[in-house]
Amino acid sequence: MTQEVQIEKTKVFVKETLKNAEGGHDWFHILRVFNNCSLISEKEVVDAFVVKLGALLHDIADSKFHHGDETVGPKLARDFLNSIQVEKDVIEHVINIIENISYNSTLDSSKTFKSPELDVIQDADRLDALGAIGIARTFNYGGFKNRAIYNPDILPDLNMSKEAYKASAAPTINHFYEKLLLLKDLMNTKTGKQMAEKRHEFMVKYLEQFYAEWEGEK
Ligand code: ADP
Ligand code: NI
Repeated sequence: MTQEVQIEKTKVFVKETLKNAEGGHDWFHILRVFNNCSLISEKEVVDAFVVKLGALLHDIADSKFHHGDETVGPKLARDFLNSIQVEKDVIEHVINIIENISYNSTLDSSKTFKSPELDVIQDADRLDALGAIGIARTFNYGGFKNRAIYNPDILPDLNMSKEAYKASAAPTINHFYEKLLLLKDLMNTKTGKQMAEKRHEFMVKYLEQFYAEWEGEK
């Protein structure tokens, strides 16, 4: 099987697996991340095949949607990649990417895997957490979890452990301070940083407008 055929088969598998996913973690999120990866990779030296497979499989079974279980995604990805005869080193690399890409794994000091391919996919995923799309995904997730939009009495917590972050049921606006506004300083690549700045500014303006309307500004 050629790499092109393996990528096509992976797309079909991911689309099917995510057909009932929450709107912010569905096939279109995967496609945006895949496309962001192509943009970012133009200026990076990476194995394009690993980047493509990693982008396509990075949210195949996000632990948020599997009772916090972080082993489901890697196992599903491994079984699938074996079934389409991807070579062993590539499988190991893709699994490492899936296990280390998420924001909550950056809060876990035992996670130390690094690679240029992970850097690209992580930036591509983070860009989709920012800007207009990032705002839409965040409120969609909050609605999915039946969270309050905003509660001025519940302040953001900037010092959460990985466990506290995963367990948090705070109002959705808090997520901007607990994660989204921190991302621009965590970008790995030059292109990623530039794109993140623009999307960050948009979110800052959005929040200003949000509070103005909350206070009943004319
Ligand atoms: P990562 O894959 O980097 O760990 P997540 O899957 O936790 O990121 O988050 C992806 C997106 O899901 C966030 O950018 C946000 O839009 C939404 N999301 C995750 N957790 C929350 C939350 N507690 N409140 C609101 N939105 C959230
Ligand atoms: Ni993602």
